[in-house]
Amino acid sequence: MFENSSWIIHPENKLYEPVRFTKAFSVRKPIKRASLNITSLGCYYPVLNGARVGDFILPPGFTSRKRVQYQTYDVTKMIKDENSLEILVSDGWYKGKINFGTDEGGPEKKKALIAELVLRYKDGTKEVIVTNESWLATKDKLRMAELYDGEIVDMTFSDKGGHAQALDHDKKLIVKQQGVYIKEQETVKPISVFKAPNGDTVVDFGQNLTGYFEFEVMAKAGDRVEFTVCEVLDKDGNFYNENYRDAKARFEYICQEGYNKYKPRLAFWGFRYIRVDSFPTEINENSIRAIVVHSDMERTGYLESSDPMLNKLFSNIVWGQRGNFLDVPTDCPQRDERQGWTGDATVFCKTASYNYDVEQFFEKWLADMRLDQGKSGYIPNIIPKTICWDWSTVETSGAVWGDSATIIPYQMYLTYGNKDILKKHYSCMCKYIGYITKSTKTEYLWTGCDQFGDWLGLDAPVGSYRGSSNEDFIASVFYAHSVGIVCKVGKILGKNVEKYEKLYNNIRAKIRKTFKEYKTQTECVLALYFDIAENKKEVAAQLADMIIENGRRLKTGFVGTPYLLHALSQNGYSELAYDLLLQDEFPSWLYSVKCGATTVWEHWDGKNEKGEFWSKDMNSFNHYAYGSVADWVYEVACGITPLEEKPGFEEIMISPVPTDKIDSLSARIKTRHGTVISGWYHEGERVRYKIITPVKATIIINGKKHLVEKGTYTF
Ligand code: BGC
Repeated sequence: MFENSSWIIHPENKLYEPVRFTKAFSVRKPIKRASLNITSLGCYYPVLNGARVGDFILPPGFTSRKRVQYQTYDVTKMIKDENSLEILVSDGWYKGKINFGTDEGGPEKKKALIAELVLRYKDGTKEVIVTNESWLATKDKLRMAELYDGEIVDMTFSDKGGHAQALDHDKKLIVKQQGVYIKEQETVKPISVFKAPNGDTVVDFGQNLTGYFEFEVMAKAGDRVEFTVCEVLDKDGNFYNENYRDAKARFEYICQEGYNKYKPRLAFWGFRYIRVDSFPTEINENSIRAIVVHSDMERTGYLESSDPMLNKLFSNIVWGQRGNFLDVPTDCPQRDERQGWTGDATVFCKTASYNYDVEQFFEKWLADMRLDQGKSGYIPNIIPKTICWDWSTVETSGAVWGDSATIIPYQMYLTYGNKDILKKHYSCMCKYIGYITKSTKTEYLWTGCDQFGDWLGLDAPVGSYRGSSNEDFIASVFYAHSVGIVCKVGKILGKNVEKYEKLYNNIRAKIRKTFKEYKTQTECVLALYFDIAENKKEVAAQLADMIIENGRRLKTGFVGTPYLLHALSQNGYSELAYDLLLQDEFPSWLYSVKCGATTVWEHWDGKNEKGEFWSKDMNSFNHYAYGSVADWVYEVACGITPLEEKPGFEEIMISPVPTDKIDSLSARIKTRHGTVISGWYHEGERVRYKIITPVKATIIINGKKHLVEKGTYTF
């Protein structure tokens, strides 16, 4: 592949200025098949004879810098006698602000294209058109494209250009497409266009989403369209986007004479609202629509209840996933971040794997993790590892963040039965354990390293992002947990895991000896869920008391929250778990719903009861971490659980836990072996259950076990 093609660049190669590479060619013989292979350093947008090639948004996607995926498009039907192939290239993830943000540096920092068009003729001959210095390199009407900042388009601009220049860059980095294409998924019409109290014209799409917009307008040449986006309005109902920090999140467009219709090609935004800074005519609901883009995953899971607020939460969780699964699992889609933060993915991966089929998505991301893992075995806290973030220069992993190396592949195994992922990732897992074992300051614990703690826990000391749970305790518990996973995985793969079993026992014993008291909700949760507490009854009662004293409300952050309801329901406090799930006073999941959220917030207190914002520093309204609560609804409230010994739902455990607090609840998951449904509802004094299992299942109702074959069951 690409043997005779060269990487090509624009001689000027200006930062954030897209470049168009064009090749004209004639075809004189009948074509049997034409296929186009492309990749770029940056993102590309391919057009053949005026029509867009393929439907991958922002190809070639976002990978480790140690590889770049190429894509193949069948363009047979697009070929004419006289042809023009035009490929626009922007800085994209590869060298935009998300990675460098500077103009310095060597050739590895240049946006470049490599392509080959293979023409197979009906007479059996073949011709290959390759990128080289004969291609035309021009500046484009797309004057600026930057993922954080948006696009600037000038329809009146033109450039004659000149010859492209070849770039000496390693072709061995090029690999076959492994990920899932990002595609357009849905069009959303505005629910209103209104004048804000401060006079701004604002378009409201009714949903915080990730993607871009498309507009149509009749204009005079030189008229301007200018938009700025945001997720939320401030307490007065005005446009607010300070939480985007340095991401300009703008769009500017200079019109051509007459009809203008445009949608961005090399940028995306996270937004619900658009402030119309300039538009040639009065803008209305028909002038503009939003287009949702994300990795093209199949939806597999659904939750539904009798409670509209809870249903809205379920919807927000799904939208959180949609907004943040763009080739890599990101923390948020709007501000100057949008990075593959590993901790966020770790806590959300189970929910993600029930909501959608994310097997291929994570396979690709985990392959990047293996490439970016450090020599010491550390896992960068952001995968793909980016360059402009301090975290990428500090060679340490935070607990939970680093444990993405064990937790995520193991979850893919449980949800999809994918043993191959374990095989591929086993040595990465072992190296990661080796890294902790070497870098810790205390044998059999994980201490003395840079940690995130219970990130954003509400019991954080003033001015800190980290909850007040003991960071060494958290880290040590996850050290044990990851070693435990390595033991399981090693056994599945037929390895000798004696060393890891011993290590696990030693870590657990040392944690028990060292941390005798649990002082926070999260510490109790971890002690219970990860089998550290020796007297679970006592610790569970302590946790229950802490929650009740806090008005039946939580204080947990990224680390405690995903396990909180599980820890309660596993220890006899299911009703209290439901209290937390259904709580709508601050802080709670439904508090944000009550405040009008359409996605899951980064902070419990993203917006307080007075409508004031937590801070502009770090306040995303589309962060999926707390959406991990959905896995408790699937697995406990509705009771659908994969079995470790029969992964991929080859056999299922269905053990629903109903409550009187809502009338009905049901879950559905399309598994590799068919669709499983488990739901319950109240009928007078009784609870009725409706269960459909596609495979052998153990159904537990009111403590009574029923071993059943596939079929439909009511109780
Ligand atoms: C991100 C988080 C991430 C954290 C770790 C934040 O800026 O948005 O979700 O996990 O940093 O420090």
